[in-house]
Amino acid sequence: MTGEDQDFFEVTVSKATLEAEGVISLEMVPDRGLLPAYEPGSHLDIELPSGLVRQYSLCSPPSDLSFYRIAVLLEPEGRGGSQEIHETALVGKRVRIRGPRNHFPLEPSPRYLFIAGGIGITPMLAMVIRAEREKSPYELVYFGRRLESLAFRKKLATGPHVKVLVTGDTGRPDLAGIINGVTDDTLIYACGPIEMLKDVEDFCEQAGRTPQLRTERFTSDGEAAAEAASGDSFEVVLQRSGAVLTVGPDQGLLEVIRDHCEVMTSCEDGYCGTCETTVLEGVPEHHDTILNEKERAAGRTMMVCVGRSKTPRLVLDL
Ligand code: FES
Repeated sequence: MTGEDQDFFEVTVSKATLEAEGVISLEMVPDRGLLPAYEPGSHLDIELPSGLVRQYSLCSPPSDLSFYRIAVLLEPEGRGGSQEIHETALVGKRVRIRGPRNHFPLEPSPRYLFIAGGIGITPMLAMVIRAEREKSPYELVYFGRRLESLAFRKKLATGPHVKVLVTGDTGRPDLAGIINGVTDDTLIYACGPIEMLKDVEDFCEQAGRTPQLRTERFTSDGEAAAEAASGDSFEVVLQRSGAVLTVGPDQGLLEVIRDHCEVMTSCEDGYCGTCETTVLEGVPEHHDTILNEKERAAGRTMMVCVGRSKTPRLVLDL
């Protein structure tokens, strides 16, 4: 199911909690009954009072569907979503949400290594809760510059398998050493700042562990949008309206589509999943960081904000 296929629905914000310096969590409850089920790693689209749509990982226990919890880091230099959430009194207000959707699923594995940098703990928290519940062996490495900035510390289990590190005191953790120490049957999940993810990707490559690595990005380095902004020219057909458009060599697919129909977007750099669109014909050229190898090869959907086409013609369900 693509993002476009799911409907928004209303919930009420029931609680806001300061979880750490610059991090607040919001809990949302349904009008009645239970909320839709979800798996660890899932995120929600939330429509803010200003109309901005943003994505946040669910960090409530997936076994308790009486509420959803998200946590939001204030990013003063960001694109406005976190600031709006931090500065608006949302408790008691109704907001529209869509999802949950999961591009970062917790796959079955005999053991796990979870690496979380800062606010990257949010998808990991639901994963750790699941691993605890199922008694799956895991190691969590959670770090940030200051102890006060590390949200949800008290919700984590204690023991040698949970390492909470303050890098302002001790410097960066030895991620290379940690990754070198994993066994062949360990899946490695990582979420955090882009520099951390790049390091983890490099260390996994050097250790031959890339096939065991799963990552999720919250921010971009702008590379995806830059890569997708130029390439060979191709034709795009918008099936619902029948429009046939040409994407020039120096044009992006999204800018061409947008002149003809509405496409819901958020990050516009291939890491949030909001613009996921069904491909009806043709072979998409992917530049996003969401789809995995299998999904890319299948070519059934694409992120149109950063995609192009490998074939002269691409037909989209738009
Ligand atoms: S708008 Fe975020 S992936 Fe396209």
